[in-house]
Amino acid sequence: MDKIIVHGGHTLAGTVKISGSKNSALPILAATLLTKEPCVIHRVPDLSDVHYMLQILNHLGAEVERASGVVTVKAEKVDTVAPYDVVRKMRASVCVLGPLLGREKEATVSLPGGCVIGDRPIDLHLRGFEALGAAVRVHAGNVKVFAPELVGAKISLKGKFGSTVLGTDNVLMASVLAEGTTVIEDAACEPEVVDLANFLNKMGARIEGAGTPQIVVEGVKELHGAEHEVIPDRIEAGTFLVAGAIAGREVTITRAKYDHLAAVGTALEACGFNLTRSNGAITIRPNGSVGSVDLRTEPYPGFPTDMQAQMCALLATARGDSEVTENIFPQRFMHVSELKRMGAAIELDGATAKIRGVNGLSGAPVMASDLRASAALVLAGLKAEGETEINRVYHIDRGYELIDEKLGSLGAHIERVKV
Ligand code: UD1
Repeated sequence: MDKIIVHGGHTLAGTVKISGSKNSALPILAATLLTKEPCVIHRVPDLSDVHYMLQILNHLGAEVERASGVVTVKAEKVDTVAPYDVVRKMRASVCVLGPLLGREKEATVSLPGGCVIGDRPIDLHLRGFEALGAAVRVHAGNVKVFAPELVGAKISLKGKFGSTVLGTDNVLMASVLAEGTTVIEDAACEPEVVDLANFLNKMGARIEGAGTPQIVVEGVKELHGAEHEVIPDRIEAGTFLVAGAIAGREVTITRAKYDHLAAVGTALEACGFNLTRSNGAITIRPNGSVGSVDLRTEPYPGFPTDMQAQMCALLATARGDSEVTENIFPQRFMHVSELKRMGAAIELDGATAKIRGVNGLSGAPVMASDLRASAALVLAGLKAEGETEINRVYHIDRGYELIDEKLGSLGAHIERVKV
């Protein structure tokens, strides 16, 4: 198991290129199961989660080829069972349910594992499938969905914590081949949902309204092959902006999309940073000391839960007190105890982290617990005095392409050690 060692206190400067979005690539790759024809997907990030998804597609019978960021999938025939061995490593495996149900009217997938960020049910996905006419059975750790035929329906995907991103993706993918019209209410509006809908439309689907809470799908008889480039990863982009904020003199990210990052940009400006942008490049520069800010995570276009941990790392050394409230995954604070071991002053009050800015952090051995929490510890390590050793970095490799190399190219002293 690799670990990452960060020697803190080195100033970052330079330019880093943002990769394709993990959270777009995963459902888009799953969507290739909807056609027998080849699909070509560009800008697919080289991440372990993507690797798991390709393994699942392969297991389901698809031919998969991959060459430097371009993945070709041809699913002439598909099996409908994705067993525990292939899906257990990643929660997003659940998004093969929708396309398999859409195409074969049947799918069995082992109930997902993945990030340890609290209870992560899939009841809303299943509610959507049922509305389309599918029966749902849960048995021996597997969920099976099946239907003699799928018929368009009006479906609300509103849950206790708002809408569901993968649930919207899943129901969308099941509905494109359903008979008649499907109206998805309370749909997730995240850019990754829009990217999936754009890809499905290139395949011949008829989807309108993606990016708004109401998506309307006119079912079609079949889909064909298509070519698509995945959007930039807004969370990777946000993470590098926070790296620039924590330890940078001037850091520029390129091939990013500011519109997708506006809530993060606004939060960083509220802390006193200067952000400038032109043609997909965003530059962050410090402007004196880091100011405190209160944040609440919300569905898009609000502040993303996937950036909450990284902002906690930044605010740990801000001037003054900040409150960060987690509204999407209330238990998503595994990074807090590790940041405290590095000297941060953070108290948890329910789903709110109360952060009192301290003068500095000190390096320590810490444990990565989930993807974004791990990123937060790397960021804290950039600022900390001495050496921070981040264990269990396989969490980071799930979602950040070459994070150590990219940070190294900006001047961070960071090394990966094989254990
Ligand atoms: C996706 C992202 C993840 C991000 C999250 C929220 C991918 C691969 N992952 O995860 O990085 O943190 O969106 O932006 O795209 N919920 C239910 N029932 C369900 C489904 C979800 O109650 O059936 C709840 C969840 O527990 C959570 C909230 O709804 O509280 C939002 O979760 P959801 O949007 O579904 O997250 P994912 O799509 O799994």
